[in-house]
Amino acid sequence: MPLVPPYIETLRPYEAGRGIEEVQREYGLTRVSKLASNENPLGPSPLALQAMARSVDGLNLYPNGGLDLRRVLAEKFDLKTENVIAGSGSEGIMSNIIRTFLCDEDEVLTTEAAFIGFQVLAKSRGVEYRTVPYRAWHYDLAGLAREINERTKIVYLANPNNPTGTIFSKHEFDDFYRHVPERVLIILDEAYFEYAKDNPRYPDSMHYRYDNVITLRTFSKIYGLAGARIGYGFAHEDLIRNLLKVKLPFEPSSVAQAAGIGALADREFLHHSLEVNARGLKLFSAAFAELGFRVVPSEANFVMLVLGSPEQADQLTHELLTRGIIVRPLRSFGLPHCVRISTGTDEDNQRAVEAMSSTSIRSCVGFG
Ligand SMILES: Cc1ncc(COP(=O)(O)O)c(C=O)c1O
Repeated sequence: MPLVPPYIETLRPYEAGRGIEEVQREYGLTRVSKLASNENPLGPSPLALQAMARSVDGLNLYPNGGLDLRRVLAEKFDLKTENVIAGSGSEGIMSNIIRTFLCDEDEVLTTEAAFIGFQVLAKSRGVEYRTVPYRAWHYDLAGLAREINERTKIVYLANPNNPTGTIFSKHEFDDFYRHVPERVLIILDEAYFEYAKDNPRYPDSMHYRYDNVITLRTFSKIYGLAGARIGYGFAHEDLIRNLLKVKLPFEPSSVAQAAGIGALADREFLHHSLEVNARGLKLFSAAFAELGFRVVPSEANFVMLVLGSPEQADQLTHELLTRGIIVRPLRSFGLPHCVRISTGTDEDNQRAVEAMSSTSIRSCVGFG
């Protein structure tokens, strides 16, 4: 019996995006824009920073497992504290979901090329991981419903989706939900909720309150706190109660929790971040399409480009890097012919468009 189980041995470790300083050094650049990880280019929420600074005085004490943040979130969303969990990013909570609910013989079902974080977590549990192809870069919810079998335990849906940036509508979700047995847990990953919430087609999962749905959200994106590792989830109290048994007792850290509470109060920052992102999306969609790239319409803070081949995607990524623009090639997601570009500041976005217009890659005819 090998020391390392085969499903771990065959996993590939998460590859973090290239850092700004590393790229500056390697290519001798003074200005580099990191548009690779869907982070907020405006920095962290100022109110979050103030709350974090205040919290450090108590660092000699163990944190309270996210209780303060859970209470604030419960009040904000008109829930009970028992319906809320806080964790080390939404991925931290995802990891707890995998550990809490999956047994060896269970199956996980999701779309092809799903968010890489979920892929890694689910596969590391060694259970069967099944996928359904996209339909025009959208989740095929009807196809997923058809694929549910007696072994399916978790269906993972990201809305908006990473890496495509697309959403499914309330109507589509309602239709899907009718076909999901109660013994199947639906993870509704809403990491990009704030960017899509004003779209009338977007389903607000807060109104569902189904017993087998857990909603995950994060402070890593619009609130600019990816480095603090703080996220939260909502679900039926029975699900949360069991997750709390498995969660590390002292996650999230007290500083991360304070950041989350501070950020929730920062309406101005939220508003400004949304405006900058909307301008970026508009510019990217129009400018990249004009240059002959196929751009998937996005409801998040990034766009996905569909290139003609994996070689074109690699070439584009490389050429952009040499021009000081870091983007995300999507080979590890399972889409080697696609590249994802996050929106940045207005200046970053302008630089990205200029860099794109000077690359040797132009057309991507032939890919749907
Ligand atoms: C769909 C999706 N879910 C979750 C996450 C991770 O969020 P967190 O930083 O809260 O773990 C990301 C980050 O890229 C994401 O794209």
